[in-house]
Amino acid sequence: MEAHYPFTLPPLPYGYDALLPEIEERTLHFHHDKHFATYIDNLNKLLEQHPSCQDWSLEQLVQECSRLPEDIRQGVRNNAGGVYNHDLYFKTLAPGPVTSPEGPLEDAIAREFGDLESLKTVMKNAALGQFGSGWAWLVSDREGRLSVVKTPNQDTPLPLTPLLLCDVWEHAYYLDYQNRRGDYFEGWWRKVNWPEISKAYDALLENHIRRAEG
Ligand SMILES: [Fe+2]
Repeated sequence: MEAHYPFTLPPLPYGYDALLPEIEERTLHFHHDKHFATYIDNLNKLLEQHPSCQDWSLEQLVQECSRLPEDIRQGVRNNAGGVYNHDLYFKTLAPGPVTSPEGPLEDAIAREFGDLESLKTVMKNAALGQFGSGWAWLVSDREGRLSVVKTPNQDTPLPLTPLLLCDVWEHAYYLDYQNRRGDYFEGWWRKVNWPEISKAYDALLENHIRRAEG
């Protein structure tokens, strides 16, 4: 993803059939090529008229949108959030066999939730409990403490660091699962890219140690 405006649609990091049978090709085409692309187009259009905001990073646009000109504030909140969330959503899924957390992340999940199955239950409750559109997240604070949160619409949990996110907008699952959000969650969970998420958590801990030493 670009550091700032103009943002462009990153390619799907795997084939459109890579998440079968849990997530079908037509869902990925609509979700990535249409929905994700629309958030990017909308965000660029909003920023086009405001050169002073064009060097803002995506994280800055999401976190500091209250400092933006009023006429684009809500639009940027919705669309920068949509870009940030979808970029991470597709990157945290992977084809192939079911994986599991590794190293420090595995230990942290055991510490905070008991085990992976318990984390899954907490996250599923968040996904099912999100009224209307939104997201369920596994996040970490700067010290590496994990928690599960949910956000409405395209809001993000920043400044907490997102590790994993389940899109519970109907566009993520309606073609495959209709109204069965719980069945979608189960399929989505089997496609989580735990090795990559474990690496992201390692990097977060290294940053924390560096800050503590510095
Ligand atoms: Fe989505």
